Amino acid sequence: MASFPLLFFAQSLFFLSVFASDSSDVLLLLEKIKPSLQGPSSPENLQLFSWNFSTPLCLWRGLQWTSSAAAGAPLPCHEAAVVSNLSLAADPSLQLLSIRLPASSLAGSIPPEIGDLSSLQSLYLGVNSLSGALPLELGNSPSLSDVDLSGNSLSGALPTSIWNLCDRLVSLRLHDNNLSGPVPDPAVSNSSCDHLHVLDLGANRFEGEFPQFIAGFHGLEELDLGSNTFSGPIPESLAGLGNLERLNLSYNNFTGPLPEAFEQSNFGAAAFRGNSPGLCGPTLGKCGSRSGLSSGAIAGLVIGLTTVAVVLASVSIGWVQGRKRRNRGRSGEEEELEIEGDGNNGGEGKLMVFQGSEHLTLDDVLNATGQVMEKTSYGTVYKAKLADGGTIALRLLREGSCKDAASCSPVIRQLGRARHENLVPLRAFYQGKRGEKLLIYDYLPDRTLHDLLHETRAGRPMLNWARRHKIALGVARGLAYLHAGHQTPIAHGNIRSKNVLVDELFMPRLTEYGLGKLMVPAVADEMVSAAKSDGYKAPELQKMKKCSSRTDVYAFGILLLEILMGKKPGNGSSGGDEDLPSLVKVAVLEETTMEVLDMEILKGMSSPTEDGLVQALKLAMGCCAPVSSVRPDMDEVVKQLEENRPRNRSALCSPADAASETGTP
Ligand SMILES: *[C@@H]1O[C@H](CO)[C@@H](O)[C@H](O)[C@H]1NC(C)=O
Ligand SMILES: *[C@@H]1O[C@H](CO)[C@@H](O)[C@H](O)[C@H]1NC(C)=O
Ligand SMILES: *[C@@H]1O[C@H](CO)[C@@H](O)[C@H](O)[C@H]1NC(C)=O
Ligand SMILES: *[C@@H]1O[C@H](CO)[C@@H](O)[C@H](O)[C@H]1NC(C)=O
Ligand SMILES: *[C@@H]1O[C@H](CO)[C@@H](O)[C@H](O)[C@H]1NC(C)=O
Ligand SMILES: *[C@@H]1O[C@H](CO)[C@@H](O)[C@H](O)[C@H]1NC(C)=O
Repeated sequence: MASFPLLFFAQSLFFLSVFASDSSDVLLLLEKIKPSLQGPSSPENLQLFSWNFSTPLCLWRGLQWTSSAAAGAPLPCHEAAVVSNLSLAADPSLQLLSIRLPASSLAGSIPPEIGDLSSLQSLYLGVNSLSGALPLELGNSPSLSDVDLSGNSLSGALPTSIWNLCDRLVSLRLHDNNLSGPVPDPAVSNSSCDHLHVLDLGANRFEGEFPQFIAGFHGLEELDLGSNTFSGPIPESLAGLGNLERLNLSYNNFTGPLPEAFEQSNFGAAAFRGNSPGLCGPTLGKCGSRSGLSSGAIAGLVIGLTTVAVVLASVSIGWVQGRKRRNRGRSGEEEELEIEGDGNNGGEGKLMVFQGSEHLTLDDVLNATGQVMEKTSYGTVYKAKLADGGTIALRLLREGSCKDAASCSPVIRQLGRARHENLVPLRAFYQGKRGEKLLIYDYLPDRTLHDLLHETRAGRPMLNWARRHKIALGVARGLAYLHAGHQTPIAHGNIRSKNVLVDELFMPRLTEYGLGKLMVPAVADEMVSAAKSDGYKAPELQKMKKCSSRTDVYAFGILLLEILMGKKPGNGSSGGDEDLPSLVKVAVLEETTMEVLDMEILKGMSSPTEDGLVQALKLAMGCCAPVSSVRPDMDEVVKQLEENRPRNRSALCSPADAASETGTP
């Protein structure tokens, strides 16, 4: 016992006053920090309980130590002699490196003595019930670099001294507390917090103007000021933070235009949502618009084409038609026709008309009545009835989702020229002065392949191998055409069963091709994340910019597996949606390959090998090869599917037999 004097004297204030200056972190921890974190009236905390002299120091929960002799190296607690050394706690040269007690039911407050721990680098006390103020002494800490106090009930102001940590600070997370008041400026006016990567002040009650000085923290990668009550403009200088990857300014009261440089950046509208209506910019509302839509303009348009409506409504129809006739007279074989309309709103629209739609005028589109068919993150698809009885599909791209007109036009022209029996043709394109874009397609009353494969509605046609093969081959041909049929190949970019329409003769047609090229990177990359969660994303595809024929082939491989297995693809993380290639690999290893196939496909089949089914499975797996260079190209895929046809093709024949025998209850 004689070797543990602290055990006996630790409770004595006299003892403390002697040793506190001697950097005894152990004493500070036991005398000040433990009681403070514990809280006055809380039951004994299980983690803090272990901080006592009858437990070897290495087993004190949530702590990492160094010794002043060890030059910052952590105490080697993995060594048996050290982990069991009961006298270590009495060694005054021991210093705390980190305190990590997240979600530990701490119910007290942050002790000011934290600032006296000379070697403390990390303080992680997130998701507890700590309350009270953030002590200004925290800023005295000479070594603190990572602070996470998120998910507590800390209140009061952020002390100015927090920025004294700037020299070493790497991350400061205070998310979801009850901190209030303005965020104080650092005492040193142009401090840049060079190492600070993460600043998260979100979900508090901070107020006042945007803390301008943050724009000088040029190392920032993540900034969250969301869910506070900040107001006023977002400073232009914020766009100068070149390393910023994640930004959240949502749910505040910011106003005014977004910094222009944000336009091409990666922050979607979600980063700015929930601010005052006065916050505007490329991904949000338009700035300085005169007034809302007149109710008359809206009433005239059953399709709520909002901004497009305003511009279109003001087009002089007579003028448009005159212009159109002139165009047609001048050159009969002109492939595309441009109709321009003058808006009295300062808006000026442009309609490009492509082959097969030469008759279409702006007022046709304008007077169409429609209903929403589908909404995606970047736009809405309407089924619209023309006055002459025809039906078209209109895809309105969300404002701010598109690149500027100049970079869009060549892509649109190329898409407008693409004609193949397995593609839904783009018939016309409207570009408004304000950047709104409307793509006009043939309307096909067909089901998507997704519905066909996964919906168990009555009347669903039976999908035998002959029919599935026809669908797969058609999709492959459409893709091969996109990849090879032009001076510059078009990557589809969004292959999935929802983007394949299948008619009653099982003829598939691809939609949505090439749209990624029209989108600003932030929106295009949302397509990539959607493809990721739905399992169609090639492993090497991180940004839409990188989308190519090869990433299309991967997605086609997944689609082919989906067709063969009748299962929804996914990334394997959530229940129900499975990582199809992995399922096949496992099945092959376990020699249960036939069992991964959809039961329906095997109906009436004598030999899956002779019918090309096994070859199709192999082909799909080849397309899903993780290494892009070993994937076949679409021409090769088409060739293999043509060579390995199902023998019994009679099942394809008439639409009359389309309803499955199991489909009618
Ligand atoms: C010290 O902590 C251990 C758990 O690590 C516990 O079993 C023991 O009862 C504690 N002793 C005191 C005196 O608190
Ligand atoms: C235990 O730690 C003390 C203080 O650091 C040290 O003096 C002693 O040699 C150690 N004992 C063993 C067995 O390692
Ligand atoms: C937040 O702090 C204020 C005082 O600043 C207090 O009145 C309020 O109850 C606190 N809210 C929560 C949820 O702790
Ligand atoms: C702050 O800026 C001034 C000039 O604007 C400069 O002289 C000074 O060195 C800067 N200080 C720091 C800490 O960067
Ligand atoms: C921003 O923060 C809010 C709440 O503070 C959250 O709901 C939202 O998901 C976040 N958005 C992004 C883009 O991180
Ligand atoms: C948001 O800003 C507007 C205009 O500046 C102001 O009228 C309103 O009270 C503010 N709302 C909050 C919650 O601060």
